[in-house]
Amino acid sequence: MTLDVVILAAGQGTRMRSTLPKVLHRLAGKPMVRHVIDTAAGLCAERTHVVVGHGAEKVREALADCRVHFALQAEQKGTGHAVAQALEGLGNGRVLVLYGDVPLIHRATLERLLEGVDDDHLGLLTVTLDDPGGYGRILRNAEGQAVAIVEHKDASESERAVRECNTGIMAMTADQLRRWLPRLSADNAQGEYYLTDIIAMAAAEGVRVVTAQPADPVEVEGVNNRAQMARLERAHQQAIAERLMAEGVALADPSRLDVRGRLTCGHDVEIDVGCVFEGDVELGEGVRIGPHCVIRDSHIGAESVIESHSVIEGAVIAGRATIGPFARLRPGSRLAVGAKVGNFVETKNVEVGEGSKINHLSYVGDARLGRGVNVGAGTITCNYDGANKHRTEIGDDAFIGSNSALVAPVSIGRGATVGAGSTVAKDVPDNALAVTRARQVSKADWPRPRKQDD
Ligand code: UD1
Ligand code: CA
Repeated sequence: MTLDVVILAAGQGTRMRSTLPKVLHRLAGKPMVRHVIDTAAGLCAERTHVVVGHGAEKVREALADCRVHFALQAEQKGTGHAVAQALEGLGNGRVLVLYGDVPLIHRATLERLLEGVDDDHLGLLTVTLDDPGGYGRILRNAEGQAVAIVEHKDASESERAVRECNTGIMAMTADQLRRWLPRLSADNAQGEYYLTDIIAMAAAEGVRVVTAQPADPVEVEGVNNRAQMARLERAHQQAIAERLMAEGVALADPSRLDVRGRLTCGHDVEIDVGCVFEGDVELGEGVRIGPHCVIRDSHIGAESVIESHSVIEGAVIAGRATIGPFARLRPGSRLAVGAKVGNFVETKNVEVGEGSKINHLSYVGDARLGRGVNVGAGTITCNYDGANKHRTEIGDDAFIGSNSALVAPVSIGRGATVGAGSTVAKDVPDNALAVTRARQVSKADWPRPRKQDD
């Protein structure tokens, strides 16, 4: 049977106190609803429908690149009404209802829930809570069969004592929804069309309600405010940290790591506290990352060391490189084996050859450095003339003296030397020395000015 996933995302999220629609708030750097869409994609659903309402335009825009269908719920009249808005687009197989603000649901849990769903079996995900206040309660008959859900606000004292709760996540056939949703009534405490009322309809028709539970209750936790958001973020990060450790990564503190994307590590990678990884980051075997580094969309080769407070984006670093502390590698930085980029150095769109060093206080952009190049402290590639960017080429074994300005386009030959403090605007031939600073004058026994007595 085919599968349609319907993700409810029309609610306002008043308690977030935000102009951003709730489902667009980010968890691990990604809008909550995208986590749900990605999980649904893992189920190989034929179609995924997102029911939008509050901030519909913003949600559509934020998901423009997703392969999803949108259904508009102009007025929020309840979860049953919300699902009904997607009814038209459904196929003839199974339907799974998910929530844009319940981001941590696992694929494995959903697969278990979907297993037995057919014309005679409905799947309902429940969770048993110590403090079930606010949740819909699962009512079971004498045989232990789930036969109804009663919302907290409609529940009697004895029903409220039930601790088994509705997570909201359920699966059924499209036919059943077409049959049951039009029969929902809003005659209840909230004046809403409750999706939960289909459970009693199923039971009445002899459709068996098969319940499943998540491996971890955090999977079915929804987000209503920023505190819950932060709690889910930590839970998610903790799970990532545990997976990394299981794969052989040494984390100084698993509670002080943030991965906002995909982090792939070789064996014996060490990551100190406070690091943030964004996008796709790959760390080779034995890489050491010092405290408080931010690394985005980069590849760092085996045995490289990134010292503390370095910010690396869009870089490809070969093995045994040494970066930082306080280095900033911007997109297009490509470092060969054993290269060094030290403190307060910014690089951008630059190729740094094997064993070459830019150790202190420099800006090197739009350049290519050969092997064994030494760039002295305070060197600047003047790559921008106010209108266009120009390239700097530095040959193998060249030595750039401290505090030099290399005015691009310019090329420094192999084995060439630039004297400290030079402004180099003309090409330097191989093995030559270029010095552009004024000659030093020393005056013997020079009488220093003295303060006048008055
Ligand atoms: C719902 C369930 C309750 C369950 C709880 C779990 C119903 C009637 N009740 O209650 O049994 O224990 O979830 O959290 O289903 N939404 C829309 N359009 C609407 C109404 C809601 O898109 O018209 C979306 C909301 O954005 C939210 C979700 O559906 O993501 C749940 O809605 P909410 O009002 O929070 O349901 P609860 O009252 O918590
Ligand atoms: Ca409600």
